[in-house]
Amino acid sequence: MPAVVLVGAQWGDEGKGKATDLLGDSCDYVVKFNGGNNAGHTIVIGSGETAEKYALHLLPSGILTPTCTPVIGNGVVVDLAVLFQEIDGLESRGVDTSKLVVSANAHVITPYNRTLDKVTERFLGSRRIGTTGRGIGPTYADKMSRTGIRVQDLFDENILRQKVEAALDIKNQVLAKIYNRRAVLADDVVGELLSYVERLRPMVRDTSLLLEEALDRGDTVLLEAGQATLLDVDFGTYPFVTSSNATAGGACTGSGIPPTRIDAVIAILKAYTTRVGEGPFPTELFDDHGEYLRKTGAEYGTTTGRPRRCGWLDTVIGRYATRINGVTDFVVTKLDVLTGLDTVPICVAYEVDGVRHDEMPMSQSDFHHAVPVYEEMPGWWEDISECRTFAELPANAQRYVERVEELIGARVSAIGVGPGRDAIIERHEMRQVRGREAG
Ligand code: GDP
Ligand code: IMO
Ligand code: MG
Repeated sequence: MPAVVLVGAQWGDEGKGKATDLLGDSCDYVVKFNGGNNAGHTIVIGSGETAEKYALHLLPSGILTPTCTPVIGNGVVVDLAVLFQEIDGLESRGVDTSKLVVSANAHVITPYNRTLDKVTERFLGSRRIGTTGRGIGPTYADKMSRTGIRVQDLFDENILRQKVEAALDIKNQVLAKIYNRRAVLADDVVGELLSYVERLRPMVRDTSLLLEEALDRGDTVLLEAGQATLLDVDFGTYPFVTSSNATAGGACTGSGIPPTRIDAVIAILKAYTTRVGEGPFPTELFDDHGEYLRKTGAEYGTTTGRPRRCGWLDTVIGRYATRINGVTDFVVTKLDVLTGLDTVPICVAYEVDGVRHDEMPMSQSDFHHAVPVYEEMPGWWEDISECRTFAELPANAQRYVERVEELIGARVSAIGVGPGRDAIIERHEMRQVRGREAG
């Protein structure tokens, strides 16, 4: 299968990193197409005492697969300090990062954008988004208002200086007059960015051309999303979203691969729901069950360490993810976390002011007032972490997955039963061209 997109179905942290790592072995390229170091992917290789845990933020999860070329696409925003910190961290653990390629068109997160992210959140007070504070929003805002700095600008000092000075003309007014902060010096910014140039130069390519040529050769390309469907700037719970397109459409604009070359879309769906930061969350639990999911699922942010908000699975969101992304296969993760519950509720619809909604409400105000309609599924108590086939799962766990499949309207092709690389049930072959059914 030449080009496959992998996205998150909910509000992030579904286990995209683990799924990408799993598919990495059969891919020639893994491309990150949106977001930046706001993402946090935990990947566990091996198990028990010898388990190796990796936390990736900016680098594509394919970096851990030696046979695959990791690519940072044009849709990503790059913090160069973080890029080299992450590379050095992996190299010191024996991971070869020499194949990494970075798009010349990717935008660079500047020091003033990191500052603006933090001061804007503080200024918003109770209306804050709860961002990761990494400068993501201001950098994408600069991209859209055409005052951004791109990776390729670093190779022309004159152009770089002109662009930084032009951006700072406005930013410094905002920083000083609205936020009461010291003005930023263009020399300092240019100096910092230029300090990375020589290390960066050999990695930078026209990645759209590189990927087009790879696809022409018949190579396999996996396009890996950061964040998720409901954090997408167009289709998420705006304004409580990230500033990029995290849905399947973003894979094309964020990589330069045209839609006609995409063969399948895999969405990762956690068996329950979590969210970090502010914004509406209909199935959120504030009782012992929420605490149970947080503890059992170790739901603390990989990037900021914040406790994740937890709730039951919401299949209105699952259906929405199927529709917006054109999902061909789902991977349901963390089914093991639901073990030991008498019943497992699934949200099948919402009620808003007495009216039932089977699909995502059109208006954000309705979504804020959505009350979940639950269906109670019988639970299971058996340890499922060693199951490697669907048939080995307890009957009630099988029923849960089958009901989810019916409700979200796409097949569940793999099921996560633990954090480790091997803790997965592969139910259907995912690497086939759409329409050619397998498994
Ligand atoms: P991502 O941002 O979508 O890559 O997800 P994160 O890495 O932020 O969060 C997912 C967490 O769940 C990580 O700590 C994974 O190691 C862990 N994980 C992934 N799949 C499973 C699973 O099937 N079961 C369990 N118990 N943990 C999992
Ligand atoms: P992965 O890839 C969960 C959330 C932040 C905040 C909002 C905007 O690990 O799934 P930003 O810094 O992007 O401007 O913050 O988006 N957010 C995430 N939540 N997982 C992520 O990434 C996230 N990336 C951003 O918490 O609510
Ligand atoms: Mg994460």
